[in-house]
Amino acid sequence: QEHIQKVNAFQAESLEQVEAFRIEYLGKKGLLKEFFASFKSVPPEQKKEYGQALNTLRQAAEEKVNQLKDELGASQSVTGPGMDLTRPGDALAEGSRHPISLVRQKIIDIFSRIGFNVSEGPEIEDDWHNFTALNLPEYHPARDMQDTFFIETNPDLLLRTHTSSVQVRYMENHTPPIRTISPGRVYRNEAISARSHCFFHQVEGLYIDKGVSFADLKQTLQYFTTELFGKSRIRLRPSYFPFTEPSAEVDVYWGLETETDYRMTKGTGWLEIMGCGMVDPNVLKNCGIDPEEYSGYAFGMGIDRIALLLYQIDDIRLLSENDLRFLKQFKSEL
Ligand code: PHE
Repeated sequence: QEHIQKVNAFQAESLEQVEAFRIEYLGKKGLLKEFFASFKSVPPEQKKEYGQALNTLRQAAEEKVNQLKDELGASQSVTGPGMDLTRPGDALAEGSRHPISLVRQKIIDIFSRIGFNVSEGPEIEDDWHNFTALNLPEYHPARDMQDTFFIETNPDLLLRTHTSSVQVRYMENHTPPIRTISPGRVYRNEAISARSHCFFHQVEGLYIDKGVSFADLKQTLQYFTTELFGKSRIRLRPSYFPFTEPSAEVDVYWGLETETDYRMTKGTGWLEIMGCGMVDPNVLKNCGIDPEEYSGYAFGMGIDRIALLLYQIDDIRLLSENDLRFLKQFKSEL
């Protein structure tokens, strides 16, 4: 009788407590087993009453365990009385890709389709890979074209000013045919404004094989701008880079003839998007490639600049400020 009262009064706060209770009464070595075992020694005239009491106790204990398990379990499972299915859910904070990553990936995809692989190198470079191997010996005035952040001056360690340094490393370690693009961050000591920053991103490309000509370069550039901007017209203006000869700057016509013109609210006309040229024989020699046997072209462009164009962004600083109101606008892009 005493135990029946105890069982009926039992309350639990956790499933662990219910389980402990179950083991105490209904377990293999529990109280009920014990009581049934002593049934033999009960005097015959009391057997009936004793047996009934035991059965009541067992039933009570079983019911209690099931009832408590239901109550406690329900508040922990997905359905049942503990759950309010009408409560609004918590919104998942979904990120978006950065416009630089988007454009970088677009460029990589376009060149992968025509057999270019992706190569990378260090952002902290030495003088040889950033300048000297590229036909810019010490005291060459063209070094001033790219204002450099030096880390040390002897030996010369610097933040790379272009990813042409990766191309040097690639040529030193591979034999032609070479078809590689080198995306990465570069640094120049320039005042920060809406148009320029002290760091930005480039993709440079390099193609070296037997008999590569300027016509191959031009055709590849036309393919590239068409893939990136839609049907487009390009023009090559003669230019100068120490590491290419001849050199040119590439303009794309941004206006009525491009499919992308609906994106533009202002700034139609010829816009410069990259530099390019035939790799100077001296550079090939510096990197262990015989210029009598091989020739090649190289080009380089700024990802940030192209992102400004493609997405109509009017301030380059937005690309590095991590303002969520800006970044969220690229959610729909993949
Ligand atoms: N390295 C040049 C720059 O950073 C771009 C370039 C690359 C030009 C390859 C010609 C050939 O401005």
